[in-house]
Amino acid sequence: MGLKVRKAVFPVGGLGTRFLPATKAMPKEMLPVVDKPLIQYAVEEAAAAGIEEFIFVTGRGKTAIEDHFDHSFELEYTLQQRGKQEEYQSLSSLIKLPGSISYIRQQEPLGLGHAVWCARHLIGNEPFAVLLADDFIYSSTPCLKQMIDVYQSGVMVAVMNVESRHVNRYGIIDILEESQKQIKVKAVIEKPSPDEAPSNLAIIGRYILDAKVFEHLSRQESGAGGEIQLTDALSPMIHEMPFYGYRFDGVRYDCGSKGGLLAASIAVALARDELREEVVNELSKVMPQSINPV
Ligand code: G1P
Repeated sequence: MGLKVRKAVFPVGGLGTRFLPATKAMPKEMLPVVDKPLIQYAVEEAAAAGIEEFIFVTGRGKTAIEDHFDHSFELEYTLQQRGKQEEYQSLSSLIKLPGSISYIRQQEPLGLGHAVWCARHLIGNEPFAVLLADDFIYSSTPCLKQMIDVYQSGVMVAVMNVESRHVNRYGIIDILEESQKQIKVKAVIEKPSPDEAPSNLAIIGRYILDAKVFEHLSRQESGAGGEIQLTDALSPMIHEMPFYGYRFDGVRYDCGSKGGLLAASIAVALARDELREEVVNELSKVMPQSINPV
């Protein structure tokens, strides 16, 4: 049994330009997979892993996220009046213990590392998790729980193999040693070109971090894409403490891309008894063989 991880950071300040115009007036983290927004899946995953404090690093135009995790008295009253118990219950699970959710503004979108650094005073000096809601992970045991169950100390990042031509979208791991699901890390590099990449093992958006990361982040050095990168702050920590990649069980969908969000929605819908038949029928009508060539 390792250290208890009590706090999680959810960076939700990103602009969501890839989904414009859908995300003009709505945060990208509120895009739904079937009937729940992406951020709710991430928060539920954290809660299932034993997280007690939820820290959102938000930005302008993100108040819908705060409202989502708060009471909506008129709606709740109306659902109760109409006897809609199931719908009412689906809202009540969103309400966390008073004082367990905080919102911090990242005034400028300077990168993932900067977003995490914005949470430093709320984290203090204890290990904490970071969850990127865009990385939707479908698994029987929630990914963060899988990681916390084996975490002892130091840094642990979720990893999976990606197509070699896509390594420039990720933080990539240079492997020192691999045993079962845990991978001892030799180096990390953010968004390398396929030529520079030491492997095709990519960091996926679930991290357990030692608070020492804030010292490295405080230098505010910009890296790939001119942004303050979390991966760059993690790099020196490889020499300071245990540093592992964790090959999680589950399927990850890149819900920062249109195709990934659609695929996640289809996968979740097909796994739900009340939706499967309808979705299969609808999909069979739109499969490629039935689409007229343009
Ligand atoms: C971020 C991280 C990257 C990681 C990725 C996972 O990149 O910087 O290291 O591999 O998330 O989704 P972003 O997707 O914000 O460009």
